Amino acid sequence: MVIFGATGDLTKRKLFPALYSLAAEHLLAPDFAVLAVGREATETDQSFREKMLAALKESDEVKNFDDAVWQLLAQRVFYSGGDASDAQCYEGIKVRLAEIEHARPEEERNRFFYLAVPPSVFEPIVRHLSESGLVPKHEDSKARPWARVVVEKPFGHSLETARALNALVLTLFAEHQVYRIDHFLGKETVQNVLVLRFANSIFEPLWNRRWVSHVQITAAEAVGVEARGKYYEEAGVVRDMFQNHLLQLLALTAMEPPPAMTADAVRDEKVKVLKSVRWMTPESIPTSAVRAQYSAGAVKGNLLSGYRDEPDVARDSQTPTYAAARFYIDNWRWKGVPFYLRSGKRMAKRYSEIAVTFQSPPHLMFGGEGNNRELQPNVLVLRVQPNEGVSLNFEVKVPGAAVALTQHLEVAPVDMDFSYSEAFGETAAPAYETLLLDVMIGEMTLFTRSDEVEAAWKIIDPLLNYWSEHIASPMPTYPAGSWGPAEADRLISLDGARWRTP
Ligand code: BG6
Repeated sequence: MVIFGATGDLTKRKLFPALYSLAAEHLLAPDFAVLAVGREATETDQSFREKMLAALKESDEVKNFDDAVWQLLAQRVFYSGGDASDAQCYEGIKVRLAEIEHARPEEERNRFFYLAVPPSVFEPIVRHLSESGLVPKHEDSKARPWARVVVEKPFGHSLETARALNALVLTLFAEHQVYRIDHFLGKETVQNVLVLRFANSIFEPLWNRRWVSHVQITAAEAVGVEARGKYYEEAGVVRDMFQNHLLQLLALTAMEPPPAMTADAVRDEKVKVLKSVRWMTPESIPTSAVRAQYSAGAVKGNLLSGYRDEPDVARDSQTPTYAAARFYIDNWRWKGVPFYLRSGKRMAKRYSEIAVTFQSPPHLMFGGEGNNRELQPNVLVLRVQPNEGVSLNFEVKVPGAAVALTQHLEVAPVDMDFSYSEAFGETAAPAYETLLLDVMIGEMTLFTRSDEVEAAWKIIDPLLNYWSEHIASPMPTYPAGSWGPAEADRLISLDGARWRTP
């Protein structure tokens, strides 16, 4: 594994904890090795190992740190300094790889190159990888040794730039060599969406416009932009969360059953559903989408600053940290069913879920005086994080014999709940662990294909363009630590629905 951007945040926060966990579970080949490439010229193998060790000890993804596991992995971790946009750097990489791999036969020198770098350096790196011969184009996916390229999001900044990037990448490499990461797909519960839908027969007959009234997909974060103000100002919540994570959740929820669980069969279905999402227009956007920024607020007595006061953020920034939007999928299954998507930073808590709300019963005879609570429709909730699991809520009769006195049954909502940790113990593997292993074994189902990325940009582009042309004045706000702006409540209430507040 060659990591570009080795001294960056992702490497220490996600990649090394994932590698450590794979090592602890004996899922790495004995001679697996990492060559970390970073700008720091003075860094050495030893000093880099020490930094990664410190990062692992701090990581909350590493439970029960075992020094023996680390020692074995650490001796297979190497560092090479250089500027990855310069051809010289690749000569250095070749030299180091030759040392590391010298004992292996040529056809076993499989390599993957992980681009944990800002999008501005994607292009030079992929070009150099190709020109240096480190990643030759292999039309045949069975060719050995294999060479793969893993790209982090964001993949492009717009439909146009994503297309250009795809065009470039696919001239240099074959599609099967390119692993576009959307780490949400590595989350246990996200993969479970397909299992729940297609390994059970009770859900699928209800999974359509006849029985579903609407779907809410939420990815709420408690954190603010932290030290990423510079990146975030350019990205904003729509590029950061909607174009990839939320649309992936929508695609998995709404897609048709694939003929097989193979990478292409699953991705074909996802592309089909993304292509059926109705495009927003300048006429529909004002009543279909809301943007906002967090303002100062307090959480558990701690004062939190507003977005415009965060480091590297313009005082008059127009970048939304929250968005909510109503989408429609124009196909036979979903026509007319609203899919509400929302995501924000600095919300009340970290919580992601997919909630499928079913139609209310056509006729209710349990109302009556003294029991005028509105009955809740059934909701099937797939909790993505935290407390991963599934719950179904339904109405039951409250026990007691009061019926005779009051002439009506008392009815109350209850939850039937499945929790991963209760059922299986602490098993949810961090997303990056799953995804790194998939790269190594050549399993592409959880990675986005070029046409899928473009289909997602097509959905998002009209919204981004409209918002960049129509300044919000004033920009709606929500206090840090809240559930979002009042404008979003209005958006959903137009259809007689309400946001769920878990
Ligand atoms: C990333 C975004 O893709 O996902 C971040 O760039 C966001 O802004 C993160 O915080 C959320 O991921 P997770 O796994 O922490 O929910």
